[in-house]
Amino acid sequence: MSVIILVGFMGCGKSTFGRKLAKQLNYQFMDADDSIEAKYKLKVKDIFSQFGEAHFRKLEEKFILDLDNQQNIVLATGGGMPCFGKNIDLLNQLGTTFYLQRSVPELVHRLINAKRPRPLIHGKNQSELTEFIEELLPKRETFYLKSHHVLNRDQQNPLFVQMLLNQKSGTVNSD
Ligand code: S3P
Repeated sequence: MSVIILVGFMGCGKSTFGRKLAKQLNYQFMDADDSIEAKYKLKVKDIFSQFGEAHFRKLEEKFILDLDNQQNIVLATGGGMPCFGKNIDLLNQLGTTFYLQRSVPELVHRLINAKRPRPLIHGKNQSELTEFIEELLPKRETFYLKSHHVLNRDQQNPLFVQMLLNQKSGTVNSD
């Protein structure tokens, strides 16, 4: 059970939660966007503006294919990563996937004040953002919901996830 993969819409908290979970499990944390930015020495927003979204999706797929052999990591994926090609199936093969489910109002609230630049929502006001998420989330959920586990807001807690993982592997936590 050494690769834990978090999926979900932009702003659902994959990176924040992933860092906490990695600490709890004593795993290494990896953020897909940060890794792609470091590898190509370009910000995601610049990859979008200079090469287009389709190119970014190819880099995301390559990132997944290169992940083979990783051990003891918690990976925060980009919000679109599981929703293109066979990516969700590849992610499900690589590790245990968790969908961090959040409602549209929660996502709007979290994204409207977010600092990370996100090309797909750049410049949108609150009502445009709401409309965008209302339209895209149901489409993306068809992929997110293929994850091994769906975590609702209250279950997005490192101890809960550790308990789930222990149950699956039959390990009794001595703490
Ligand atoms: C995207 C989400 C972003 C990033 C890129 C595209 C998407 O990641 O990969 O801006 O298509 O939903 P976060 O989910 O970490 O914001």
